[in-house]
Amino acid sequence: MTNFAAALLLWTLISPSSGGGHGTEEHWPTHRACSNEGLELLYQSCDPLQDFGFSVDQCSRHLKPNLNIRFGIILREDIRELFLDISLMNKGSSILNYTYPICEEDLPKFSFCGRKKGEKIYYSGPINNPAFEVYKGVYQVLAEVYNEKRSIVACANATLICS
Ligand SMILES: *[C@@H]1O[C@H](CO)[C@@H](O)[C@H](O)[C@H]1NC(C)=O
Ligand SMILES: *[C@@H]1O[C@H](CO)[C@@H](O)[C@H](O)[C@H]1NC(C)=O
Repeated sequence: MTNFAAALLLWTLISPSSGGGHGTEEHWPTHRACSNEGLELLYQSCDPLQDFGFSVDQCSRHLKPNLNIRFGIILREDIRELFLDISLMNKGSSILNYTYPICEEDLPKFSFCGRKKGEKIYYSGPINNPAFEVYKGVYQVLAEVYNEKRSIVACANATLICS
């Protein structure tokens, strides 16, 4: 929670609307989305234009269904439709590629679907995931969120450590 608050504060301070310029070769700071019961998720924004806040409640190796997450972001694009691509790697080899529709024209699953460019979104609530088990290891995760025009809305590379 504290990490999330820190990330959110940082995000507010350095987001484009606050006018702070920065070079594209700089990396955003690494944030901890959760750390608990042998599972840790660290992430870094890979969108050169902005950082964002993200955290997961009840993080554990035995991931419960319907996890609660929180995130805050400023929209770079309209999000009539929104998709999430996740790719998971372990020791350099690809394990999983997955696309999840977050907002579809006929099926807006979340209250923020349909928001416009420039609006700030803050979401805190369940994500309707199935339960699953995370096996021991260190995983690299790349997550891209994009709209119906395939314009990037958010991007993160993350490390998932399960010990
Ligand atoms: C995931 O996508 C990448 C890039 O398109 C590809 O190289 C990789 O083989 C895919 N992995 C799986 C498990 O399908
Ligand atoms: C994100 O990617 C960069 C560059 O490959 C890497 O140095 C960094 O450790 C990664 N961050 C996380 C949290 O996985």
